[in-house]
Amino acid sequence: MPVAIIAGTAIYNIPSIQMEEKIIQTAYGEVIVLLGQGENSDLVFLPRHGPRHSTPPHKVNYRANIQALVDLGVRYVLAAYAVGSINRQIPPLGLVALDDFIDMTSGREATFFDGGVNMVKHVDMSEPFCPHLRAALLANAARLGLHLEPAGTYVCSNGPRLESPAEIRMFEKLGGDVVGMTAIPELVLAKERDLCFAGVGFSVNWAAGIEPKVQFVQQGLSELSAQLLDLFIQTLREVASQEVTRS
Ligand code: HPA
Repeated sequence: MPVAIIAGTAIYNIPSIQMEEKIIQTAYGEVIVLLGQGENSDLVFLPRHGPRHSTPPHKVNYRANIQALVDLGVRYVLAAYAVGSINRQIPPLGLVALDDFIDMTSGREATFFDGGVNMVKHVDMSEPFCPHLRAALLANAARLGLHLEPAGTYVCSNGPRLESPAEIRMFEKLGGDVVGMTAIPELVLAKERDLCFAGVGFSVNWAAGIEPKVQFVQQGLSELSAQLLDLFIQTLREVASQEVTRS
């Protein structure tokens, strides 16, 4: 059964695995994915901003991206999000297994259920991320000795600009732990298509107003990306093999 990793800023491919680019035509537009070769032929890597990181967060064709995974027969998806830290417990280079979100985006194509032939449907967001996949992520992180905060609320701002200090203070008061620009509508669309989807935020800076200027970490980021990809691959392998045993 195919499994997928979606990633954006700072993670553009899976260096340890040989992959080939493929264009997928979907009802919502064209998507370029990387498909694993040989023993990794069940692994799909989707660079959400395109293979050359040329599409900004507010212009990503999220519907085409999720539809491409559905069309490829994917059921389990892990997504990586570069984020700014609001919660002091999750410093830059920290990892958090997201469990909730606040949507501050606007003007994005945010649903597959937009009436007409696509029907009207109100998907329950009481549990935005797949609990089965989140549990597997946490267990595998512990096994790998990787510190993964077990829960955190992702605030999705529209971008591409960063936030003002007052916006970050507001997000903090609302219960936000980290801020990014891409989890919405990605996770909503995945849920609308019944994918088992979980997301991990990896912090690359303190959010605006916490320090005099926003500064992005460079050092340690490539090691962290490699560890996160290892965690994703092990977790996806585990859930996919359990699925095969069950069926
Ligand atoms: N704000 C929004 N998106 C981000 C940030 C941030 O501080 N850091 C990484 N993605």
